Amino acid sequence: MKLQRNQKMELYQIHILAFAALICCTSTAHGWGIHGHLITCRIAQPRLSKAAAEAVSQLLPAYADNDLGSLCSWADRVKFRYHWSSALHYIDTPDQLCSYQYTRDCKDEDGIKDRCVAGAIYNYTNQLITYNNANSQYNLTEALLFLAHFIGDIHQPLHVGFTSDRGGNTIDVHWYTRKTVLHHVWDDNIIETAEERFFDSNVEELINTLQTNITTVWASQAKAWEACTKTACPDAYSSEGIKAACDWAYKGVSNGSVLQDDYFLSRYPVVNMRLAQGGVRLAATLNRIFG
Ligand SMILES: *[C@@H]1O[C@H](CO)[C@@H](O)[C@H](O)[C@H]1NC(C)=O
Ligand SMILES: *[C@@H]1O[C@H](CO)[C@@H](O)[C@H](O)[C@H]1NC(C)=O
Ligand SMILES: *[C@@H]1O[C@H](CO)[C@@H](O)[C@H](O)[C@H]1NC(C)=O
Ligand SMILES: *[C@@H]1O[C@H](CO)[C@@H](O)[C@H](O)[C@H]1NC(C)=O
Ligand SMILES: [Zn+2]
Repeated sequence: MKLQRNQKMELYQIHILAFAALICCTSTAHGWGIHGHLITCRIAQPRLSKAAAEAVSQLLPAYADNDLGSLCSWADRVKFRYHWSSALHYIDTPDQLCSYQYTRDCKDEDGIKDRCVAGAIYNYTNQLITYNNANSQYNLTEALLFLAHFIGDIHQPLHVGFTSDRGGNTIDVHWYTRKTVLHHVWDDNIIETAEERFFDSNVEELINTLQTNITTVWASQAKAWEACTKTACPDAYSSEGIKAACDWAYKGVSNGSVLQDDYFLSRYPVVNMRLAQGGVRLAATLNRIFG
């Protein structure tokens, strides 16, 4: 009797798990997947100035235990609850043009201006600047979580992609033997395959290697990545993004392509670089915001 009941419970739990997996993994998410965001936030947090680290620690909810990485994908999880926010994860640029302009491209599907990932980065930067005003009207916890996520997303090359294929979301490909879409290859598959092949399936080891490279082989470039004469510089990142999308993500791919080692090995360094840039720039932006 007891055993049967437990078995029923187990079956029920398996159903819940399967359902959760379905919800989590079938959505055509825009932006890095969970690991991509974790990586950028983990790179950023140790680079914060004392003032910025203090502000981040104040703004994070207690359950985050001062780990920005643990909530770096929060913005993807609230896309359904905050339906208005789903257009803020990406930018659609004109097909085949391979260029970006804020005034031309930063709008949502209804043509409403500023509603794109670059506009959202400006928006949440401006909100966070009010941190020291006693009567700030914004929820700055949400502003921080959105900003941390969007600075990651804007570095995923296919976030600044072509309009008609929705940033590679309608381009069917095989990643080795698995059926997927080009957008997802850049959100998740390249990172996953790299972790499996080079890092013993351990994301922490990939993070460590990126951090080491930022302070060694990329040290002088990393200084240049931080440069920004305003508080936030998403337009520069978008321009780089659409260029990387044309030069690397879309290049040589057509509907139905099978992507394997040739593609993986040549694009993996681009993904590493974009993850590193995202982390370095998130920290630099928060340091400019909080002083
Ligand atoms: C700016 O932030 C507010 C508060 O989250 C939100 O309602 C609005 O849609 C945002 N706009 C943009 C362009 O990010
Ligand atoms: C701010 O947003 C967070 C995350 O959505 C929420 O838990 C918190 O209650 C909000 N704070 C206020 C004061 O509304
Ligand atoms: C790729 O092919 C699929 C299936 O035939 C189709 O639905 C999709 O629109 C095509 N994508 C592009 C970008 O042509
Ligand atoms: C780190 O830099 C080395 C040397 O340039 C390079 O071979 C390696 O792929 C880089 N790793 C990552 C994760 O960036
Ligand atoms: Zn996103």
